[in-house]
Amino acid sequence: MPARLVVLISGSGSNLQAILDAIRARYLDAQVVLVISNRQAAFGLERAQKAGIPTRVHPLKPYRDAGRSREEYDADLAALVREAAPDWVVLAGWMHILSQAFLRHFPYRVVNLHPALPGQFPGATAIADALAAFQSGQIKKTGVMVHLVPDEQVDRGPVIASEEAPIYATDTLESLTNRMHQVEHRVLVGALARLIQGDE
Ligand code: GRF
Repeated sequence: MPARLVVLISGSGSNLQAILDAIRARYLDAQVVLVISNRQAAFGLERAQKAGIPTRVHPLKPYRDAGRSREEYDADLAALVREAAPDWVVLAGWMHILSQAFLRHFPYRVVNLHPALPGQFPGATAIADALAAFQSGQIKKTGVMVHLVPDEQVDRGPVIASEEAPIYATDTLESLTNRMHQVEHRVLVGALARLIQGDE
């Protein structure tokens, strides 16, 4: 049986697209059964719809406006995900820190992609942080990792796969980001293949 993946996105969904392309190319023995975004405007939703995959939008703002907690938001998100009975929950460009109210439902089954090497530059500006560190001579390269999300630490956990990416003196944030996306797509698909094979 193909592995059931629920993919959480917040933006363009280029990593979601890499997963869909790998499935279509029969590289990944998986099916994306649901895509959830926390942002209505996420282009990744269009990518999912074009591929005939069910989508849901689960924004945080209504919870904030109603004075409801992040834990309530996370618990409701978990209920949406559980309905799809995933083997793996893939955070692919997902820009919201998940609490145990979500994670406890999927122990060691949540997988996060982060555009930095293990232990480096946690948070939402990892690529910009790496470029700045390179320009101030602190690092010579950066990279991408995919890790399990066992707890609420941000962008830290058991590493499934990682790959270095070069930074050049001529790099701008845009040129480095483009290069990082290419690496992300490779590392994410490779990590999922490893996890899925490990399950079989
Ligand atoms: C990627 O760098 C991802 O790691 C970060 O958001 C960016 C957008 O990814 N969290 P995608 O194109 O939406 O997959």
